[in-house]
Amino acid sequence: MHSATPDSSSPRIVLGVAGGIAAYKSVELLRRMRDAGFFVSPVLTRDATRFVGEVTFSALASEPARTGLYGDPTTPIPHTYLGQHADLIVVAPATAHLIARFAMGLADDLLSATLLASRAPVLLCPAMHTEMWEQPSVQENLAVLRRRGVLVMEPSTGPLAGGDVGAGRLREPEEIFELVEHILRGYRGPLSGRRVLISAGGTRESIDPVRVISNRSSGRQGLALAEVAHRLGATVTLVSTSTLDLALDVVRHIEVVRVESAAEMREALVERAVESDVIIMAAAVSDFTVARAPMKLKKVDGVPTLALVATPDILHELVASRRDGQVIVGFAAETNDVLENAIGKLRRKGVDLLVVNDVSAPGVGFEHATNEVVVLDKNAEASTVTLRSKEAISYEILTRVASLLNQGAP
Ligand code: C5P
Repeated sequence: MHSATPDSSSPRIVLGVAGGIAAYKSVELLRRMRDAGFFVSPVLTRDATRFVGEVTFSALASEPARTGLYGDPTTPIPHTYLGQHADLIVVAPATAHLIARFAMGLADDLLSATLLASRAPVLLCPAMHTEMWEQPSVQENLAVLRRRGVLVMEPSTGPLAGGDVGAGRLREPEEIFELVEHILRGYRGPLSGRRVLISAGGTRESIDPVRVISNRSSGRQGLALAEVAHRLGATVTLVSTSTLDLALDVVRHIEVVRVESAAEMREALVERAVESDVIIMAAAVSDFTVARAPMKLKKVDGVPTLALVATPDILHELVASRRDGQVIVGFAAETNDVLENAIGKLRRKGVDLLVVNDVSAPGVGFEHATNEVVVLDKNAEASTVTLRSKEAISYEILTRVASLLNQGAP
């Protein structure tokens, strides 16, 4: 399972899926919830399984998807088990029929029975055609449910199934996820009140006005760290060379400083370091730069000789001027004698945590969506975080950072 491992304290979500075309989007929602470390139990209505197979949900969830009230060998009374253990029930998509049954207090299948057998907050994310959405019966049912404290995430206007356009489109999984996080963590994540400064991407050193020296770093891991730090409650500044986009629900909330060269990155970081509780150097900073030619070097002038000069080691400088209680995390990309090299780097850099990638391994490091890392603490105690999404890796790293902050590190 490529996600942060939930433990007994992880919030538990029942993800209800009713029978609408938008059911495919709840697969993405489920994946996000799992990556965030939530324990997710999917419940599909009979008609939901016509749109997306139960196996897809089972494969991604914390426990197998359930579709009926009867015949579950692990839980003979599944609706009470699910309802009583849930911290939140999310229904996405919620169809007109499901909304009507919930408003009426009917319990004719597992999802409607679970909704009744629970005191947990309920978030409904309706999706249906505009004509259905605008029906007084649907709107009145929702008004009744709202009065009873049910949260309703209004659908958006846009393309609907069958080529129509109008109100009734299920909100995007990242928006639903953001609200889920709000509800469950109440914005009081483990990094609440903390300022986190993150660098991301490979620096570009100009040779002349058109050419650069750079590296293969995409910035994905740094961006994922910024998004997750925000979700865990931090105030985030991202100093980045990356051209990739941040998640929509995050971009409004974090400060992004665009830089290009190692020198620009250094300046941006040093300026902000003093006010930061945490600094994470996920960027691949070029070790060398070159004197920039003022005009494009011409082929007819022959092959130029580039005189490289060393860039300042930003991480080293940040550690040297760290303030009390600040947690500093470095990254190391290695291809051989990974642990040995990393332990040397940990000592040289003096960081609290060093996140080590073996970039020669498949699916790891630069340009990949996934990563596998070894996290070394100050005492060179190593723990491996096996191959998973960069988002899930970020949760693992930031959870360790939060516990160092709580211990009053360093
Ligand atoms: O020494 P090495 O480049 O392998 O160290 C990697 C770590 O040091 C990363 O966290 C990287 O962001 C940081 N670094 C730096 N300034 C440099 C080179 C690397 O801050 N000039």
